[in-house]
Amino acid sequence: MTFNRSIKIAPSILSADFANFGMECQAIEAQGCDWVHVDVMDGHFVPNLTFGPATCAAIRPHIKGVMDVHLMISPVDAYIDAYAKAGADVITAHLEAGPHIHRSLQAIRGAGAKAGLALNPGTGIEAVQHLLDMVDLVCVMTVNPGFGGQKFIHSQVEKVRALRAMIGDRPIHIEIDGGVTVDTAPLVAAAGADVLVAGSAVFKGGSVQNPAPYGDNIRAIRAAAEAAV
Ligand code: DX5
Ligand code: ZN
Repeated sequence: MTFNRSIKIAPSILSADFANFGMECQAIEAQGCDWVHVDVMDGHFVPNLTFGPATCAAIRPHIKGVMDVHLMISPVDAYIDAYAKAGADVITAHLEAGPHIHRSLQAIRGAGAKAGLALNPGTGIEAVQHLLDMVDLVCVMTVNPGFGGQKFIHSQVEKVRALRAMIGDRPIHIEIDGGVTVDTAPLVAAAGADVLVAGSAVFKGGSVQNPAPYGDNIRAIRAAAEAAV
């Protein structure tokens, strides 16, 4: 994974057909996405359940590019190795998931993955200052994590702008997760985000049998974001 700040579209397979993950991953990559975003939920840190490392390992061969694993789980440390072995390129843990985020980020890099740090909408960026040399990505949640298809929380745009200023020239991605559409992508791109996660806005209207709408949706979000940079 080489670092750059160009706009990257990362469809969340939370909005894919759960009976067809492999083909869905192939379809979104063929339709022009950059990363594949995998939302891991434990029914404890967030009020929803998705999938574990075995599912990640099963879909890995169907992804040519970056597998971006978002852990919405607590505790997190005991599972980091399993997701790294499953082939995650990026593993993101939440600041709010426990008292030892510093240790979790160390463990992620120690397992050979890029380290991501996610912040819930109610969390400030102050702690990031002390973790800047340990993170490859900061994920700003623009919905409360747990479900796809929620409304974008506009107060987070200012947070992205402040985070972008804090990061300066460091090779750290800013990822946006939740409620990204053609209307909200320009706001966060202009504020300094480069990785845009989008679930419902990418998968709407398409299917593995009819994947062309995925491409239309990806191109529309990318164009809206790039026009704002
Ligand atoms: C929310 C997840 C997101 C979500 C995005 O808890 O982390 O990745 O699936 O879905 P949309 O784009 O539909 O808001
Ligand atoms: Zn996510």
